[in-house]
Amino acid sequence: MAESADRVVTPFSFHCPTRLHFGSGVAARAGALLAAEGFGSVLLVTGTGHTVRSRGYAALKESLEAAGISWDEFPAVTADPGDGLVREAAALATAGGRSALVAYGGGSPIDCAKSAALMAADGTDILEYLHGRAFPAGGALPVVAIPTTAGTGSEMSSAAVTTDTAARRKLGFSHECLFPRLAIVDPELHLDMPPPITAATGMDALTHVIESFLSLGANPASDAINLHSAARIMRFLEAAWRDGSDLAARSEMACASALAGAAFSQTGLGMVHGFAHPVGARLGIAHGLANAVILPYVLAALARDAAPRMATLATALGLATPSDAPADAARKLVLGIAGLKSRLGMPASLGMLGVGAGEAPAILSDAIAYRARPRSPRAFTDGELSLLLDSALSGDLDAAFRA
Ligand SMILES: [Fe+2]
Repeated sequence: MAESADRVVTPFSFHCPTRLHFGSGVAARAGALLAAEGFGSVLLVTGTGHTVRSRGYAALKESLEAAGISWDEFPAVTADPGDGLVREAAALATAGGRSALVAYGGGSPIDCAKSAALMAADGTDILEYLHGRAFPAGGALPVVAIPTTAGTGSEMSSAAVTTDTAARRKLGFSHECLFPRLAIVDPELHLDMPPPITAATGMDALTHVIESFLSLGANPASDAINLHSAARIMRFLEAAWRDGSDLAARSEMACASALAGAAFSQTGLGMVHGFAHPVGARLGIAHGLANAVILPYVLAALARDAAPRMATLATALGLATPSDAPADAARKLVLGIAGLKSRLGMPASLGMLGVGAGEAPAILSDAIAYRARPRSPRAFTDGELSLLLDSALSGDLDAAFRA
């Protein structure tokens, strides 16, 4: 007998124009893939650390040369890139008349390249976009994203985060022109990632799928990606962290991270990111690590209003069963995520990360203004966000459930 639906599916839109090339060894074809897009001259944007000296980066340059693509490079991106770096990269792309920017590395080079591509299109300063004083009229230069971590999702997202250096604020900007033209996702490039970065970036990916799933903007397409990706991350993050050479686990994480970017571009994120951005901007704490520490506290505070959706997630993650009451399953989700974070060697509270109570007012005022706050499944008051932050600072998970 045919199943009957009990309600009409709510109308929604889903848009992701990024062409994803995924697979072990696919980066070796980067030059040919770029040539097929018609890119003859590109600016490479990468970090200052390990990536610029890596075999993968050298192979990328060889691949471009073999395809007849000329390149210049901007190997200067540091963590949480500021507006000054974006201006430098944009100026280099413009001066060289480059037809595309190719980002190689983690979320910082990818976001820097995306913001620079926007600025290079018409010269409007990146801060004008970040503060809502300008809107992209002419699009952005094409971006090719080649991630070497599995977490940011920027390789398939419409968002880029830039630090307003003077204001000490990390500000995201989303527009469909910021979807990369190509995402070349090769898990072999992730094999050298050290365990702490594997853990932090993996928890960033997990935060993306959870916040996107719980967002008021969630839809059936984002749900499909998020439930699938959350289950894969829960199953394979620890394996990738324990044994970095486990290509199967690396490939699951790389795939989940990329797909999550397409999903959260539709829905926005949530208050975990709302708190993690000021923690990162003010204290230099890695984005994924800040997310990992804050995630259980925000989830605990959401359990009051979002228990049914949290129960669905908990079941998908293998942390609860369909027979659990929603409130019980939501609690199991919180404790399961906290347990994973602990097994990955991450601290239990912001205080243990070195965030002092004196930082709370500045973190709170930034989080209150977070752009995705209206899509939170719980309409937190400013006072409730303050209680939530206090619980994350002190490590009092029970207080977060009561916040
Ligand atoms: Fe993130």
